[in-house]
Amino acid sequence: MKFAVAIDGPAAAGKSTIAKKVAEILNFTYIDTGAMYRAFTWYCLEKGLDCQNHDECVKVIPEVTIKLRPNHVVLCNGIDVTKQIRETRVSGNVSYIASYKEIRLALVEQQRAMASKHSVIMDGRDIGTYVLPNAEVKIFQIASVETRAIRRYKENMEKGIPCTLEEIKEDVKKRDYIDSHRDFAPLKAAEDSIELDTSNMSIDEVVDAVVSIIKKTAKEKGIDL
Ligand code: DC
Repeated sequence: MKFAVAIDGPAAAGKSTIAKKVAEILNFTYIDTGAMYRAFTWYCLEKGLDCQNHDECVKVIPEVTIKLRPNHVVLCNGIDVTKQIRETRVSGNVSYIASYKEIRLALVEQQRAMASKHSVIMDGRDIGTYVLPNAEVKIFQIASVETRAIRRYKENMEKGIPCTLEEIKEDVKKRDYIDSHRDFAPLKAAEDSIELDTSNMSIDEVVDAVVSIIKKTAKEKGIDL
């Protein structure tokens, strides 16, 4: 039987780091929905579109095919954009793109199709509330803005993505605001989600906590993982 885990939360809360590790431990498919909105944003920027112009960006939906490969490679129309989608220009515009309902509907359809085929751990903003409302486990992962900005800054440095800490902090705050104030499927904790404040937790501690929650839920529901 398929099992779905939703991990939602604000920008740079470490959702993807945790989701990747948990997926490996439990042999689930990891789906990074943020990468899909980022790839769409990359395409719009490459085309020279204004990401704050709804009509201009929605028009290109039929031109964009996004694929997530098992090794975390992200393809946009066959082009490997794994690294480019983490650049500052994409992070700074992705919340506008993610606020357009038509784009969300197109990407959510793909996300649901992936979850129907495999046991998944999916991270994003609206997974527990909108994409997979019947997910067996819903985690809402949070951390202070300070902690999140420092984590993302270090990650970018390791990946060779140029940025400053101040820039990251402003980006995180701006995205949280836009993501939680949009009309359609905004960032918010599902009523039946479990909040996990990771500000003072190590990666291993968070992974252990999430794996225990999943195993306990599976046992209660009589599901073999
Ligand atoms: O998780 P991330 O930082 O890579 O996500 C990039 C942006 O995409 C984020 O600012 C909001 C948007 N997003 C969304 O609206 N819904 C999702 N399910 C995932 C991401």
